[in-house]
Amino acid sequence: QKLDLELAAIEKGGYDHFMLKEIFEQPTTIYDCLRGRLDAAAGTITMSGIQQYADQIINANRIVIIACGTSWHAGLVAEYIIEDLCRINVEVEYASEFRYRNPVINKGDVIIAISQSGETADTLVAIESAKEKGAIILGVVNVVGSSIARASHAGAYTHAGPEIGVASTKAFTAQLTVLMMIALKVGYMKGSLSNERYRRLLNELDAVPEKAAWVLNHHEHIKAIAEKYKDARDFLYLGRGYNFAIALEGALKLKEISYIHAEGYPAAEMKHGPIALVDENLPVVFVATKDVYHEKVVSNMQEIKARKGKLLAVITEGDELSKTICDDVMIVPETDEVIAPLINVIPLQLLSYYIGVAKDCNVDMPRNLAKSVTVE
Ligand code: G6P
Repeated sequence: QKLDLELAAIEKGGYDHFMLKEIFEQPTTIYDCLRGRLDAAAGTITMSGIQQYADQIINANRIVIIACGTSWHAGLVAEYIIEDLCRINVEVEYASEFRYRNPVINKGDVIIAISQSGETADTLVAIESAKEKGAIILGVVNVVGSSIARASHAGAYTHAGPEIGVASTKAFTAQLTVLMMIALKVGYMKGSLSNERYRRLLNELDAVPEKAAWVLNHHEHIKAIAEKYKDARDFLYLGRGYNFAIALEGALKLKEISYIHAEGYPAAEMKHGPIALVDENLPVVFVATKDVYHEKVVSNMQEIKARKGKLLAVITEGDELSKTICDDVMIVPETDEVIAPLINVIPLQLLSYYIGVAKDCNVDMPRNLAKSVTVE
């Protein structure tokens, strides 16, 4: 048993938990995911699986994204980005709903299945039945040779390496990286994305590993925030646009790791329900980086403040206004709004981790959860 403990310590590479190790690996895993694919100087993205089905993707009437859990959140981010950059209709489906509800699938529909493990039963069955109906299946999968990878016509691996922590972190950012590259490549080939914007986004994506490392360097500050709010009973996470799915993911991470009840909502929807929960005991976490929605998000923050909610936010470096409104801020470097979700999720992963640890929870293996759900 002593040997097992020592082996586990070695595998954690000096970190207290796999989850923390995996959060800190992200500058490297994102870099590994980009490497050999994105060449910002040359202005190219090389993805052979996508290239192979390029015509079908460009001319698709719609793309349906199928996934579960955290991977579903990556799909939601991708929906916003692909519709914006590629002007193709995108739907995002929970695999468990899709497989049972007799969905309309037309020949030539493009399905993107997202899965860390590549073994999630609902996702696998969903794509197998769509395949029978003539859809093209692209897999965005981490585990090489897994069932979903094999059931797909083509795809792109996320190359995040083995993820041990049950709550997904580095696999999520690798999924976003791949999905962003797909959106950029398809948008550029299709001509819906201007050369100038394409080039700018390539450069921004290329700079993500460095910016992710910057966020991680500020972990002590996030740990202090975690200590301050660890005893809250509930949390609300709000975001709009590209950051809406990041609010959902922030809430999911917190409930998985710390067992604190947390809900994620589109920020403007708060007035249709969640605002009733706001009092001086409720921490509300905004994902409020600078983007086209920013002014509106700031006014949503002011509404929470007026009701005495505890106001926390992920904000862009240099955003002094948000800093003065909020009780606590988690600062991230500036980037394009399309790329921002990839960086914005990192402080929220850290916040959940440190709250979970402060509450003495088993962060690597939360109760009742499984790393991959291979049954219904
Ligand atoms: C489980 C895991 C989650 C994961 C989800 C989907 O619930 O605990 O972390 O997001 O399954 O798994 P997949 O392997 O398909 O991405």
